[in-house]
Amino acid sequence: MSKKETPLFPLRKGLHTRQAHVDLPPGTFEEEHARQGFYGRTTHLYRLHPVTDWTRIEGPLRPHCYDLNPLKPSAEEAIRLSMFGSTEAGFAPICLLHNSDVALHWVAPDTMDFFYRNADGDDVYYIHAGAGKLETTFGALTYATGDYLVIPRGTTYRFLPESGDQRYLLIESFSEVTIPDRNQLGPNAIFDPAMVDTPELEPYDATPREWAVHIKREHQITKVFYPFNPLDVVGWKGDLTVWRINVKDIRPIVSARYHLPPSAHSTFIANNFVICSFLPRPFEEEEGAMRVPFFHSNIDYDEVLFYSAGHFFSRDGIGAGMMTWHPQGIHHGPHPKAIPLSRTKDRTDEVAVMVDTARPLQATPAAELMENLNYWASWK
Ligand SMILES: [Fe+2]
Repeated sequence: MSKKETPLFPLRKGLHTRQAHVDLPPGTFEEEHARQGFYGRTTHLYRLHPVTDWTRIEGPLRPHCYDLNPLKPSAEEAIRLSMFGSTEAGFAPICLLHNSDVALHWVAPDTMDFFYRNADGDDVYYIHAGAGKLETTFGALTYATGDYLVIPRGTTYRFLPESGDQRYLLIESFSEVTIPDRNQLGPNAIFDPAMVDTPELEPYDATPREWAVHIKREHQITKVFYPFNPLDVVGWKGDLTVWRINVKDIRPIVSARYHLPPSAHSTFIANNFVICSFLPRPFEEEEGAMRVPFFHSNIDYDEVLFYSAGHFFSRDGIGAGMMTWHPQGIHHGPHPKAIPLSRTKDRTDEVAVMVDTARPLQATPAAELMENLNYWASWK
């Protein structure tokens, strides 16, 4: 007969609240120290000061903030700033942050007279600005601001954008991108699978000319040429294809009485990273329930947040088109004005995309060029 484990945990010392994120001891700031993002063993620390009230930082570890608005992702910029794949006029992603699981790029495609195929990974685009048509071997799909486009590895595609401002965040995943289990929420929660749109086969440009496919393999481009348009697929069947969901069709989970962790907003998962969407939603309504994210140190994950639209209630001085990167080991949390401000509002209208990575990221020269070097002091 095996000995029954004595449940030792959670241990409780000194001033604390028994329900995390609710009714904090007066005058304290809650910090979450947790493993595995928001899934693992967790302790909440109640401090007398926000843990981000540092006076100075020496050494390489610090929070980063990038303003991507002035970054024009042209072929010339891509050639100058990073060498992570295509640098052709029409399609020249500029890599900003990367590790061996995921790479984040900033893209402004123009009408492409060639096709692209990523043999290194799945491509997930978030359309920050712009609209157009995506042509793929599975057919064509229109897209607009707020769309996620999920393009499986090996798909041949090209963008035919409308005129005007085009700025897309490309999250390149070196493993297959899927969606998280809905578990007790049921299969139709967050977004109903019926809200997903897939490409339709339609007439394509069959002009007999030389058509090129630029294939990225280990971040190098090989060009394969055909005497016909390679979109000559006349039918297909199966469960692997390009798909689209708009953030307006994602219905975030909320609790009136409890501040849910970012993992509740997971939209896509892959090996060693997760993509979450922070979308317009009501704030917690119970008096003692926290409305802004708790301070935490993300000890097992680097956290990247791309701010796309609305007012980012937990961060001061952050606007649309900006991106923050909080590496493992140094704390982050709400800016000082965010806590009292959240008590005056009923809801947030923010639209932001979060990428949490298990392995540390590295910044490219392109990101460093766009960095606000005083961001570490923005909690003062
Ligand atoms: Fe965080």
